[in-house]
Amino acid sequence: MLTMNSLCPYPIIQAPMAGGATTPELVAAVSEAGALGSLAAPLLTPLAIIEQAEHIRRLTDKPFAINLFVQTRPQVDFAQIEAAKLLLQPVCAELGWTTLPTPTRWCEDFEAQFDALITARPAVASFTFDVLHGSQVQRLHEAGILVIGTATNLAEAIVWQAIGADAICLQGTEAGGHRGTFIGAQQDATLSTAELLAVCRPQIQIPLIVAGGIMDGADIATALAAGAQWVQMGTAFLTTKESGIHPAYKQRLLDARTDGRDTTRQTRAFSGRFARGLDNRFMQLMESVADQVPAYPVQNALTGAIRSAAAAKESKTEFMSLWCGQGVARARDVHAATLVATLVQEMQAATRKS
Ligand SMILES: Cc1cc2nc3c(=O)[nH]c(=O)nc-3n(C[C@H](O)[C@H](O)[C@H](O)COP(=O)(O)O)c2cc1C
Repeated sequence: MLTMNSLCPYPIIQAPMAGGATTPELVAAVSEAGALGSLAAPLLTPLAIIEQAEHIRRLTDKPFAINLFVQTRPQVDFAQIEAAKLLLQPVCAELGWTTLPTPTRWCEDFEAQFDALITARPAVASFTFDVLHGSQVQRLHEAGILVIGTATNLAEAIVWQAIGADAICLQGTEAGGHRGTFIGAQQDATLSTAELLAVCRPQIQIPLIVAGGIMDGADIATALAAGAQWVQMGTAFLTTKESGIHPAYKQRLLDARTDGRDTTRQTRAFSGRFARGLDNRFMQLMESVADQVPAYPVQNALTGAIRSAAAAKESKTEFMSLWCGQGVARARDVHAATLVATLVQEMQAATRKS
């Protein structure tokens, strides 16, 4: 049976990134290059999960991961939706919309996605937004699948360890995309990647993966020297040639030269869960009401029409969610295999120097 140690030559995981970034081509290219590619499946139907896993297997016979959000379907009432639509009125007005469509569904059915994941049988399954039940961890293990849970604080890491996870991904506050917090308030999970690792190391015996702001091989060497066994990198892979994000979004990331300023921030305005991305007009228009929008996945589904309409028009990146981490200014426009090879060279050079 595979273990975390025998998965692949390099201790680098390409982060799962929902919303189209982690194409089968990206996942396969990363795994072929000796790191671990991850397919983000939170927004995929069960059938699409199986099809995309098959697609990856046609491109590589190397191990890869599939990732899901642990979630339940929300109970939503009409009044809540109408109130949420009112909060989005300034955005609709700027787009020239008189009405905002009500989505026909709020999110995929987690149980059905989970069954599809078991059928797809990746080497690794990773989870965020909540913790699994012990019986679900057992089902994954019986299928020969290693389990990674996401934690943004020590309490969450302890819970994942107790439930039988094989490794824990510690998500620091620098990280791009959604926060995985499920114990305590999301705004209270403020530890940086290095701080979270330092807090968790003495308490956690299973392998620790760190995520958030890791952009080059020197960052990887630093994380490993501090006691992480792996790193998980999202933003660094978002701008690779194989990443499936909208070209205008990719260009905004590559243009994000920051001269030291942090051009990212966290908001719950897009989805109802705190997430980090490039500051834009949507965030600014929603700033004063961001704490009132309904929780994920309701707000995420409601803003879906806005985000896809914006994506259909190249000039409207101001109304797209431009998720990325605080390291975005160091993102590179390269093939995924080149990025992995470069990261390994940089990591080895940094390790030799120290
Ligand atoms: C565009 C984007 C989408 C993301 N989607 C997911 C996801 O579907 N599942 C998940 O576990 N993490 C997701 N994340 C978070 C990553 O797993 C990881 O924590 C983060 O990218 C690390 O920070 P970095 O972007 O600074 O490397 C996403 C991150 C980004 C940037």
